Amino acid sequence: MQTGNLINGEFVQAASGNTVTVFNPADDMPVAEVPDSGEGEIARAIDAASEAFPKWSATPAIERAGLLRRWAGFMLRDSERLAALMTAEQGKPLAEAEGEIKYAASFLTDAAAQAETLSGSVVPSPKQDMRITAIRQPVGVCAAITPWNFPSAMLARKLGPALASGCTMLAKPAHETPLSAIAMAELGVEAGLPKGVFNIVTCDAKLFSATIFGDRRVRKVSFTGSTPVGRTLMKQGAENLVRLSLELGGHAPFLIFEDADLDAAAEGLIVSKFRNAGQTCICPNRLYIQASVYDEAMDRLRKKIEKLKVGPGDVEGVQIGPLINDKAIKKVDRHIADAKQHGAEVLCGGERAKPQAKDRTLADRFYAPTLLSGLKPAMAMAKEETFGPVIAAAPFDTEAEAIGLANSTPYGLASYFYTRDHSRAIRVAEAIRAGIVGVNSGGVSTAQAPFGGVGLSGYGREGGPWALDEYTDVKYISTGVAER
Ligand code: SIN
Repeated sequence: MQTGNLINGEFVQAASGNTVTVFNPADDMPVAEVPDSGEGEIARAIDAASEAFPKWSATPAIERAGLLRRWAGFMLRDSERLAALMTAEQGKPLAEAEGEIKYAASFLTDAAAQAETLSGSVVPSPKQDMRITAIRQPVGVCAAITPWNFPSAMLARKLGPALASGCTMLAKPAHETPLSAIAMAELGVEAGLPKGVFNIVTCDAKLFSATIFGDRRVRKVSFTGSTPVGRTLMKQGAENLVRLSLELGGHAPFLIFEDADLDAAAEGLIVSKFRNAGQTCICPNRLYIQASVYDEAMDRLRKKIEKLKVGPGDVEGVQIGPLINDKAIKKVDRHIADAKQHGAEVLCGGERAKPQAKDRTLADRFYAPTLLSGLKPAMAMAKEETFGPVIAAAPFDTEAEAIGLANSTPYGLASYFYTRDHSRAIRVAEAIRAGIVGVNSGGVSTAQAPFGGVGLSGYGREGGPWALDEYTDVKYISTGVAER
């Protein structure tokens, strides 16, 4: 297994020899050492991506697509190994990790399909002696800054469309989870990735952003992470007018109307909320239930939540793994304490979980899946993402009130609601301010759909044909036609 940077087709350590240790969040055991790279490695990765660009962008789309498909195939071939690595560094249950590897591979195959159909247009001209053609061209060298919560899928979601469009890329994985990214890069090399087309540098986040934004050759940056960091990147990118895609925090509402199938709604909430222990940008953080079915819906939910099994991700049957680090679990502690102070009632969970393992001492980083009643606008969890296995609920009376509650934050990534009324489904889907709306659907993620937010959740879309828009410029060619 490689643990180095991938720069210009070679796996290399930092010239300084400095490394950082990757720890398993379930038991704090070291998993591997990766380079703590400096400015020199980042600059060499930009050089490599820049040198590779002319040839890669001129490579026929069908060949670029072929590489992405081979790469995806190797990921599926090695999905068990990659999932075990992901669970070791990220903590999520093995079944979820294997699901993520398949999800990541699907971004590569979807981008391959998009590459083969990416086209421009010929527009009717207003003049007899002129023709108008618009072609799509790759923007150039791109950089990706990826998060720890989906270490393979979020990288694939960026590198697939970038390479499919003919761009080259350098990526900085999150310092908590670099191994999944490096393992993916290794499979890219096996699939025939030309030198410099894709590079990985493990390094400090601030150093990476200062270096890429300081180099005019980097024309596009795609970032998944927090809103405050997104703002900083916008400021840094202003000087060189760098194109940005920002997939930032969400704060999803989940509405259950009185005409909903309550079992389906409860199942949808479990799927969307408790995936990755609630450490998902699109997971619901606020649950609003119509008053006439509030008690019944909460009862069904509580019964399902109480059954979720907490423990290390590599133990059979575990559904809720550890949180990524101490800061994450302290945030959950703070949100729960604050909610209790504001009068919330704990229906289940509400405290750290203490799973036991026969062969090792586990870290104090597990949180019991929690359902709270009495969500109030003044609570911290009504205003910011909890990013843990916690959901708090409040009743509402009317559709208008539910829409008002859903839209009561400046964020707008995902949103969900359950109803059997067809007209209501259309009205509410149109009225909610969010990039993604799940209507009777808790599992909205798929590589073919446009993924991204509005408001403080950022801008730009990943997935399907929209993804390639982010990595291409439209060039207008005006051709003069002389009369015979
Ligand atoms: C995210 O939470 O950032 C991504 C989740 C997904 O793609 O399903």
